[in-house]
Amino acid sequence: MANKRIDEPTGTETVGHEWDGIEELNTPLPRWWLWTFYLTIIFAIVYVILYPAWPMVDKATEGVLGWSSRGQLAEKMSAAEQAQQGFRDQLANIPIERLPDDSALMARAVAGGQAAFKVHCTQCHGSGGAGDQQLGYPNLNDDAWLWGGDLKAIEYTITHGIRWPDDDETRFSQMPPFEGALDDAQINAVIDHVLSLSGKAQPNAAGAQIFGDNCAACHGPQGKGGRDVGAPNLSDAIWLRGSERSALQRQILNPRMGVMPAWGERLDPVTIKMLAAYVHSLGGGEDFVEVAEDPEVEVDE
Ligand code: HEC
Ligand code: HEC
Repeated sequence: MANKRIDEPTGTETVGHEWDGIEELNTPLPRWWLWTFYLTIIFAIVYVILYPAWPMVDKATEGVLGWSSRGQLAEKMSAAEQAQQGFRDQLANIPIERLPDDSALMARAVAGGQAAFKVHCTQCHGSGGAGDQQLGYPNLNDDAWLWGGDLKAIEYTITHGIRWPDDDETRFSQMPPFEGALDDAQINAVIDHVLSLSGKAQPNAAGAQIFGDNCAACHGPQGKGGRDVGAPNLSDAIWLRGSERSALQRQILNPRMGVMPAWGERLDPVTIKMLAAYVHSLGGGEDFVEVAEDPEVEVDE
């Protein structure tokens, strides 16, 4: 352009525009900026050659490295699966009662069990396994067990369920209804006796007699419960269905009995082991003893 000239004070060329005597200088770009700019172009070209870049009809150009985010994901997944598989194999091969010997394996089993518990068990037992007294879902955090609290017993309970009709080896028992078999006075007396076991009522001799005749077979002579039939301990402060007289009366007249699904068909044995480890870890887990403890010995009062 004809108006281009060199600006005297700065020595820089002007672009040739002038407004009321003010001119625009054509200052060159700083060198560092220019080089950075060229570098980004080189980087882009190299990138396009090496990595998937240009979108085509059904997929992008592949790049000479053959890398893809999908491939990377698959690699990571299979590495994770392999690591998981080693752990699952180990768990599959160890008898559950030996699990506590290997504390690292136990810890991983507990973590896996916690995840599985969230998926399969919380709808009944609550997210922390605290249960629900209204519905008769037992608290799994305490050391009161209906059917046994060592790893093997818990594994069995989870595998076969409780009163689950589709499983031949399910935990099973039935508390008989005493409606009609005992009259009101007898019911009241036996309720007194049951409540006296945990210090909630005065002892009642007639009630004790009725209890011995009708209830001790399952609940034990001292009311400490019977795990072979899942009969709760009546002498502790832990209640499956509530400690109010009305709750006891309802249970004695017309017992409700908890049903839990069997998981053996739906979950693999390793997952069940993990679940058992988790439930065992919740606080009330008992040690496994090879020989069953002595059945309760009757003590004269
Ligand atoms: C449909 C509801 C339901 C679901 C789901 C359920 N449970 Fe249960 N569970 C029960 C009931 C009810 C009982 C108590 C049965 C009884 O009264 O004997 C029980 C009892 C148990 C016991 C025995 C407690 C004891 O004191 O001996 C264990 C252990 C247990 N559940 C673990 C689990 C695990 C682990 C899962 C998930 C895989 C699970 N439950 C899912 C309803 C359920
Ligand atoms: C055949 C065995 C059997 C006999 C006999 C029996 N029970 Fe039970 N009882 C059970 C079982 C099993 C349960 C637990 C029901 C459940 O899992 O929901 C239970 C539950 C109870 C409960 C609820 C406990 C709680 O923690 O909430 C009370 C109370 C009770 N029984 C009292 C009695 C009394 C009193 C008698 C005698 C008049 C009696 N039972 C006779 C098996 C028996």
